[in-house]
Amino acid sequence: MKFLNPSMDFRTVTPEEMKKVAATEALKLVRDGMILGIGTGSTVNYFIDALKDLIAQGVRIRGVATSIDSSERARAAGVNVEEDYAGTVDLDVDGTDEMDGSGNLVKGGGGALLREKIVAYNSRNVCIIADESKFKENGIGTFRIPVEVLPYLNQMTRNQVEKIGGICIFRENGKYRTDNGNMVMDCDFGIIKDPPEMERKIKMIPGVIEVGLFANLATMAIVAGQDGVRTVNFKNFSP
Ligand code: 5RP
Repeated sequence: MKFLNPSMDFRTVTPEEMKKVAATEALKLVRDGMILGIGTGSTVNYFIDALKDLIAQGVRIRGVATSIDSSERARAAGVNVEEDYAGTVDLDVDGTDEMDGSGNLVKGGGGALLREKIVAYNSRNVCIIADESKFKENGIGTFRIPVEVLPYLNQMTRNQVEKIGGICIFRENGKYRTDNGNMVMDCDFGIIKDPPEMERKIKMIPGVIEVGLFANLATMAIVAGQDGVRTVNFKNFSP
């Protein structure tokens, strides 16, 4: 466990401060000329805002963003946001709704799961930043699994997801739309014993555009808590 600021009393650290600590730690991974994957959510917003200072120091950063909100925020910070980049992303920094000890994630609380997964899949390194409440020792699945669904015949899609054990609720009574114009169902499968297998099963259902289970994509996680900040490695970081 490494304390960023020994004078700080971590017993009084709020979840918002933890998010900021994790985001600040992730900033140390950013190098001049990198192509960044820019995640979505309140934790990543601290990371995006802090990029402004790096850019002011002369660090050149290009990136691909996982949502319209993050794209606008990153541009405001001075990031050169690409719309149709075709190469590999050097470093994707994103948040999570839940994470287990193997780096399996639940994502999509903010509805950006499809773009987030495309960017993570095409990244050499994926760094997840989170406060300690996101870390679930006993497995993921307490947070309902977001599933992005094509609006066309969406009730059929829901029935098929329920057949494999989910209890699904359409977000905002079916009114919610992602940046891609799709609906999101939040699905309760209980604690998920085999996240990679569940990810495959849900993804196979026609009408499912993407599922917010991310198995085997995270390289590392930076988790901030009452006792400080720690880095968990799931794979080798390749600079
Ligand atoms: C958005 C996401 C976010 O990364 C996730 O919801 C975490 O958000 P926050 O940092 O606000 O808790 O997956 O689709």
